[in-house]
Amino acid sequence: MATAAAGGRRRRVLFFPLPYQGHINPMFQLAGLLHARGFSITVFHVRFNAPDASAHPAYDFVSVPDDGMPADSPDTVQATMDHIVSVNRACEAPFRERLAALLERQRARAEDVACLVADSHLLTLLGVARGLGVPTLALRLGSAACFRCLTAFPMLCDKGYLPVQESSQLDAPVVELPPYRIGDLPASSAAAHGQLREVLSRVVTAVTTSSGLILDTFDALEADELAALRRDLAVPVFDVGPLHKLSPAASSSLLRQDRGCLDWLDGQPPASVLYVSFGSLASVSASDLVETAWGIANSGRPFLWVLRPGLVRGAPPSSISLPDGFDAATRGRGVVVSWAPQEEVLAHPAVGGFWTHCGWNSTLEGVCAGVPMLCRPFFADQMGNARYVDHVWRTGVTIDGELQRGKVEAAISTLMGAGEPGAGMRRRALELKNSAAASIGEAGSSSVNVDMLVSLIQSM
Ligand code: UDX
Repeated sequence: MATAAAGGRRRRVLFFPLPYQGHINPMFQLAGLLHARGFSITVFHVRFNAPDASAHPAYDFVSVPDDGMPADSPDTVQATMDHIVSVNRACEAPFRERLAALLERQRARAEDVACLVADSHLLTLLGVARGLGVPTLALRLGSAACFRCLTAFPMLCDKGYLPVQESSQLDAPVVELPPYRIGDLPASSAAAHGQLREVLSRVVTAVTTSSGLILDTFDALEADELAALRRDLAVPVFDVGPLHKLSPAASSSLLRQDRGCLDWLDGQPPASVLYVSFGSLASVSASDLVETAWGIANSGRPFLWVLRPGLVRGAPPSSISLPDGFDAATRGRGVVVSWAPQEEVLAHPAVGGFWTHCGWNSTLEGVCAGVPMLCRPFFADQMGNARYVDHVWRTGVTIDGELQRGKVEAAISTLMGAGEPGAGMRRRALELKNSAAASIGEAGSSSVNVDMLVSLIQSM
């Protein structure tokens, strides 16, 4: 096993996550993995969604001012792009100053900086590090398939797939990138298309100008997509996932997780519970909340539902009201929490289905738990992830179009009911779970890639 101490010197790896839950988690999992191999860790972060340093006493933390950043969490493509642009802009000068100071201090220690691992959305900050002589690696949150989409984005625009002109085109296949349909591509409004193209092109540049691309995925899940990336990119690709299964557990949750729901799950029959969560950023309309609630209630199944503060547009963040009659209709059958220990919930034997927005972490966590998924994607890579779940891995169903309680009830019944097609989905989900476990086992594809990554960092 390759370790930091192999060359006799202690090496420090620097991290800079994008400040959203779904991006912070894999970054900390990777940091945990490298720390366990003997590297010292420094995490640079902005004040917005700052990580809890006390949860990681072995790491150093450096706060970088983010003056001018919007204060709210983004819940649309447009708001996310604005945030990404402003993190890069606001942090450029203060990051340069703090990194230069750190490098100066390190010279006096028996330790040196090996590299910076930054989110692939932080092109400016990766450039700052290289300007100061620090090699860089880009951690791209998302599937290999999604990153292929980003590299193909100019072609998709040139061929007229994007921006989407008519909603009637959404089901049309993207011939050059199967199995995507136009509606599965990351897209924005026509007005914001130019900005999206620029933001995504910066991601690709961040990767191609770094010393390597790190992806939280595994070979058996995306063999063709990873092979295509290795063929097309001039930098090495390290698929080291599923990171949450490889890395020592250390909480990077920004919200307090309600662990009481695990006790409730202990009392439920095996594979009986539907777990419902739409991740850390997506928001729903008040009417979709009502349809979701009645779809869950009418399914007749036990459920655990995460209603995150701020989930419902227009509702006060701290108090989300469920429709009249919902409590009575589901009494004794369900639990609602504001944030759950999701990885443990999904791994619990009582959970038999996962209604997800298909953020990449949730998708991968669902895959690793062997749980079939009910997909209701919102934006960005989520439609493409749902496409892989229901069309490629065939471990779930997607609810398309307007959300209606009848559709929800039918989808839950398909997913969790006896007989086909649910039984086939559950069988394939278990096969994928086993492949995920094999990938991080001895000589598994991800274990081999982790060793190669550690060797590369050691040599930097
Ligand atoms: C964002 C983007 O919206 C998505 O497109 C991209 O793929 C990832 O980043 P996000 O909403 O953060 O998605 O979802 P996801 O990637 O699924 O990450 C959410 C994380 O929060 C997961 O690691 C999940 O385990 C955790 N979580 C979620 C909890 O710990 N508790 C919960 O109750 C819900």
